[in-house]
Amino acid sequence: MTKEIKISKDIVIRHIKLSDSQVFFDSEQDQDAKKNFMRTPISVEVVKEDTKNEMKEYEKDKPSSEKFTILYKGNIVGWININQLNNPHFEHRAKIDFCLHQDFRKKGIMLEVLKKVSSYAFEKYKLKRLEMWTRTFNKAVSKLGEKAGFEFEGILRKNKCKNGKYLDDVILAIVK
Ligand SMILES: CC(C)(COP(=O)(O)OP(=O)(O)OC[C@H]1O[C@@H](n2cnc3c(N)ncnc32)[C@H](O)[C@@H]1OP(=O)(O)O)[C@@H](O)C(=O)NCCC(=O)NCCS
Repeated sequence: MTKEIKISKDIVIRHIKLSDSQVFFDSEQDQDAKKNFMRTPISVEVVKEDTKNEMKEYEKDKPSSEKFTILYKGNIVGWININQLNNPHFEHRAKIDFCLHQDFRKKGIMLEVLKKVSSYAFEKYKLKRLEMWTRTFNKAVSKLGEKAGFEFEGILRKNKCKNGKYLDDVILAIVK
């Protein structure tokens, strides 16, 4: 069943559909998104495969993720994903990721979405801990997270390796 949640007059989120793949692809092609994510999809076909797999999670009793499409004034503008759910011994914990198409950034959309989806995730999955990771240079995400109630917990040094370069990660979390 496709779930839809109204967040404000202009913002709605709903479960992802295959037809959202083009916008998901476009959203990750600008320099800021490319710099932040570990992998940039090289084609819409790649995104469609990912989307198909992510949609299968809706059918499971214990999904490993729940991903939503974000709509602003009726336009598909990005996505938000509750992931790393139901890992053995970490069932109380999840991670959240998101991306907005560059034409719709800095309008306060993700702040509203993030607050709502965080509350939804705690309630639905009975979480005690919700994490957000980002690269240290991504000040937008750190500030956004703090505004949404996530607390800075620390830096994981040389946590990732991208194109031969080691990257530090910031971790923010809400703990209940
Ligand atoms: C990060 C991102 C999701 C922010 O979404 P957004 O809808 O533009 O954010 P909002 O407009 O809701 O901003 C909320 C707060 O976040 C902070 N913020 C957002 N964009 C910022 C930027 N470019 N620089 C600094 N702070 C920023 C601000 O504190 C802002 O509040 P303010 O406007 O009162 O100052 C968006 O820039 C994006 O999709 N970036 C590329 C992908 C990415 O980095 N994804 C994160 C993966 S972990």
